[in-house]
Amino acid sequence: MQVMQNAAAIGVGAEDDILGKAKANTWDGLSRMAFAANWDPESAIDWNRSIELGSIKEGWINILHYFYEGEWQGLEIIQRLMNQAAHMYKINEMVTYYSTQCADEAKHLFVFKKYLHKLNSPPSKQKAFDPLVWISTSGPVKVERWILATYFTETLAGAIFQRTLELETIDPIGKEMIKLQLKDESRHIAGTKLGVTTVLDHCGPVKTFFLKLWWKVFTRLAVMEVRRLKPYGDQVGMDPENILQRAYKKMAELPDFKNIYLQDSFSKVFLG
Ligand SMILES: [Fe+2]
Ligand SMILES: [Fe+2]
Repeated sequence: MQVMQNAAAIGVGAEDDILGKAKANTWDGLSRMAFAANWDPESAIDWNRSIELGSIKEGWINILHYFYEGEWQGLEIIQRLMNQAAHMYKINEMVTYYSTQCADEAKHLFVFKKYLHKLNSPPSKQKAFDPLVWISTSGPVKVERWILATYFTETLAGAIFQRTLELETIDPIGKEMIKLQLKDESRHIAGTKLGVTTVLDHCGPVKTFFLKLWWKVFTRLAVMEVRRLKPYGDQVGMDPENILQRAYKKMAELPDFKNIYLQDSFSKVFLG
């Protein structure tokens, strides 16, 4: 019943705070929410309308290309690591949940691609070998690094989508496409919170020490990437610093994570 209430809650008042509404705190609960909230990318959006973007067109298209690439990498990394994570932690339900996240990310790729095609700017062909995916899925503590990294990337996506819905310049198809994705991302953030909690519960001091070092390097590179979007952000009215602040505030909602990973001066700049 609770699950159904949560699923229903996600369907209404979407702009207010979709990110706050995915409350399920079990893997199976989140999987059921995903089943209940399933949407068809072909029919959930009326694709027959034209897209008018005016002066924001170039900036918006560039942000979407960045997203398309990120969704693809995210999907590939989940597929490579979800079974390893479930085996490592002996939690079978993780596979069920992450398979719903795979389906979601595949839908996100579908709508981004369709939208970009309508704008005559199709996404570039995916590389057969992606060094970032390779680094993310190889080497020591890859499962832990993946789960922590997705806490950053999922909260970041949520913050960018939230900001997009506030912008008057984005066309109705774009808004609908982002609203549907934000509902999914809110669940992904809830799932990642479960994942991060699992990681924290299983990490001793030595592993935590190395993961903290890695986190420092990873977040600096990731923040640099987000800041590189500033010229496009300026065109559409999206300030990377504000996006980063929102993402960090969201990550800080897990007190144990905050106490271990967000205590350095770099993180505190965004937490205010
Ligand atoms: Fe996504
Ligand atoms: Fe996601």
